[in-house]
Amino acid sequence: MTSAGLTAKRGGPLRGRVRAPGDKSISHRSLIFGALAQGVTEIEGLLEGDDVLRTAAAMRAFGAKVDQLGDGRWRVEGQGGFAEPDDVIDCGNAGTGVRLIMGAAAGYPLAATFTGDASLRGRPMNRVMKPLKEMGAVFQHRSGGRLPLTLQGGTLNRIEYRLPEPSAQVKSAVLLAGLNAQGGAKVIEPEATRDHTERMLRAFGARVDVKDIKGERHIELPGGQKLSAAKVRVPGDPSSAAFPIVAALVTPGSEVTVEDVLLNELRTGLFRTLSEMGADLVVENVRRSGGEDIGDITARYSQLHGIEVPAERAPSMIDEYPILAVAAAFADGATVMRGIGEMRVKESDRIALMAAGLASCGVGVEEEPEGMTVIGTARGNHPVAGGGHVITKGDHRIAMSHLIMGLASEKQVEVDEPGMIATSFPGFVELMRGLGADIS
Ligand code: S3P
Repeated sequence: MTSAGLTAKRGGPLRGRVRAPGDKSISHRSLIFGALAQGVTEIEGLLEGDDVLRTAAAMRAFGAKVDQLGDGRWRVEGQGGFAEPDDVIDCGNAGTGVRLIMGAAAGYPLAATFTGDASLRGRPMNRVMKPLKEMGAVFQHRSGGRLPLTLQGGTLNRIEYRLPEPSAQVKSAVLLAGLNAQGGAKVIEPEATRDHTERMLRAFGARVDVKDIKGERHIELPGGQKLSAAKVRVPGDPSSAAFPIVAALVTPGSEVTVEDVLLNELRTGLFRTLSEMGADLVVENVRRSGGEDIGDITARYSQLHGIEVPAERAPSMIDEYPILAVAAAFADGATVMRGIGEMRVKESDRIALMAAGLASCGVGVEEEPEGMTVIGTARGNHPVAGGGHVITKGDHRIAMSHLIMGLASEKQVEVDEPGMIATSFPGFVELMRGLGADIS
């Protein structure tokens, strides 16, 4: 093991009740919308991971007063718009942060330069610059539409934009730019993506009309709208809850409950898929909080079987395919995942890294340009062999997924660079240890 790595070993059953950290998508938006709004926005349960802290710093740079009041409790005093920052905005590892902030800033007369870490500097920004340029924003950027880039914002025109890729980040960037555009913006989504921007804009007093026309979502946002401050309660992140839940499903004798998990159906495709694979998952205590359903999910060890995951489900679980691939490794038969090309442009090429990591642990994987098939080891009663040294390329979800795999594999699994786990799940190792996991 490298000195900076982490090792997960097979041990006893996992047991206990935990709360997942705050939802990353809602946390970014609460800070950005609070900064755009006039007045004081109060946030409870904010995810204090590195990604979101970068967004908090960015909002200060654009003129908002942002203060941490206590654990997860934040106060954002918005100025009713963005002012020009006096230095480069470094969004770290956060695609959501940089893309949403670019959209939010585009309608103001300012210049802003954005950068990020090596992973973010390699990710495609053309998908956001294209519609924003069409609206009137001007960009200078590195070859291939990569960061660092400089945005010159100003007066924007209306756009009607059909999303070429199912991306909530692109949708959100266009809608946020539309707030300050003459005539607003319309986004057409052939495949529905997470709708936190639409829901939260309404909570911040904006008008957003959503219609379903021939199976497509038409989102109309009238222009020239001012946001007003709101109170935000951030629910637990289903994308983070996924790790202790899958850990319990694959570790014999386990029973784990994750409390207060966001149950928005545009985010819960993984839980539906796991149930179809035979997972014993029970959702209880479903209640409304901050305009969303939340609930407590209990997972008990289950013998899973492989399935073909419907490709149209991909947007509702796009961040969860790495941990699904781990569940699939312990299943009986093959799990086929298609329509997941977007996984290749996340914090890393997640199809390539999962395929390599699973293979290094003795799991059969077939990689396709936009898909992946995992051959479960359960048939013939072989557990996953393990023993892999996993290269994460600094991707938090690749690291956590393989550590969960190590908890139920014959031999230990080691991951490099676990530091990035804190971008989305600070305290992951401690939380898993509290459930009985052997991670060191
Ligand atoms: C997010 C959207 C998704 C997701 C990301 C968070 C959001 O990205 O992968 O972790 O908060 O809007 P894409 O919009 O690129 O699919």
